[in-house]
Amino acid sequence: MEVNKIMVIGAGQMGAGIAQVFAEAEFDVILYDLEEGIVKKGLNKIASSLHRQVEKGEMTGVRREEVIKNISPSTLLQSAKNADLIIEAVIENMAVKLKIFEELDKTAPEHAILASNTSSLSITEIASATNRPEKVIGMHFMNPVPVMKLVEIIRGLETEDMVYEVIEELTKKLNKVPVEVNDYPGFVSNRILMPMINEAIYTLSEGVAKKEAIDEVMKLGMNHPMGPLTLADFIGLDTCLYIMETLHSGFGDDKYRPCPLLRKYVKAGRLGRKSGRGFYTYT
Ligand code: CAA
Ligand code: NAD
Repeated sequence: MEVNKIMVIGAGQMGAGIAQVFAEAEFDVILYDLEEGIVKKGLNKIASSLHRQVEKGEMTGVRREEVIKNISPSTLLQSAKNADLIIEAVIENMAVKLKIFEELDKTAPEHAILASNTSSLSITEIASATNRPEKVIGMHFMNPVPVMKLVEIIRGLETEDMVYEVIEELTKKLNKVPVEVNDYPGFVSNRILMPMINEAIYTLSEGVAKKEAIDEVMKLGMNHPMGPLTLADFIGLDTCLYIMETLHSGFGDDKYRPCPLLRKYVKAGRLGRKSGRGFYTYT
């Protein structure tokens, strides 16, 4: 199956990164979000991320412009009618994703593959919102997308082998490493990572150490590039909370209960880097 045109639904942290890496690999990309302003913000993120490469001499200014030209903005879900692969990267909320997949199923061409970048939610359930469950798959990129090599590929119960093979091939074309995991809450990445981050937040809330000390211990002691609280801010505290709630309800095990301090921060709108304030403040 030929894949030339990609549509990315959601121009946030992840959607912008996914659009960038496909544009760099010479695909035609449509970047969609609810409002023009949000899409524009996503395009600006891409432009500044590419500029890093220009500043490092890894990319010329001309090439940067060519990559940006591969991305067209859209606020119309109907743009999916021209896409071969649609990758959804909106808020980690099942109801929102189900509604989008139901819409996409009506608009996207029959051959199109519908993928979700969900961190933790059931691909099988997302697929149930469509009449093409065999063409629905999880294509889970890591943050920041231009840098992280891993893509977790998650089959839903009905996902057909051809679809898996196409996504695996595309992942390699992006110079990333596809890893097949099965459809269980949090897959592998967040089944292991998020409880660690949640435990760091409990460590903070119980006064075991200051936030800087907790991050320092994991950076210097375990060689993590970012401490868990800095990483939580980087991911987004809302996303971290939604993932913990998925693990908690998905496994019915209280060891996954989200730390009340995490819930409090999200309720206060302290979402981390993307809102300017989380455990740390970002200017
Ligand atoms: N976008 C693009 N490139 C970026 C970037 C961004 N947001 N941030 C950093 N980079 C690039 C820099 O350009 C630099 O490139 P070179 O090595 O070629 O010079 C490189 O990354 C290192 O950047 P810095 O030197 O500025 O900073 P750093 O050394 O601290 O690295 C980092 C930044 C790569 C983000 C590093 O801190 C890191 O790897 N952190 C952990 C990230 C992580 O764990 N991600 C997975 C989260 S879990 C997830 O994503 C799944 C989920 O569902 C929640
Ligand atoms: P984000 O908050 O940065 O962006 C979410 C985007 O979705 C926003 O631009 C918002 O306008 C858009 N959106 C919300 N509701 C929508 C709707 N009904 N229709 C269309 N667009 C809508 O979130 P993010 O961090 O980019 O995460 C997006 C997805 O990627 C989530 O499923 C998340 O779990 C997953 N993910 C996140 C990370 C991470 O580190 N942040 C890593 C891997 C996967």
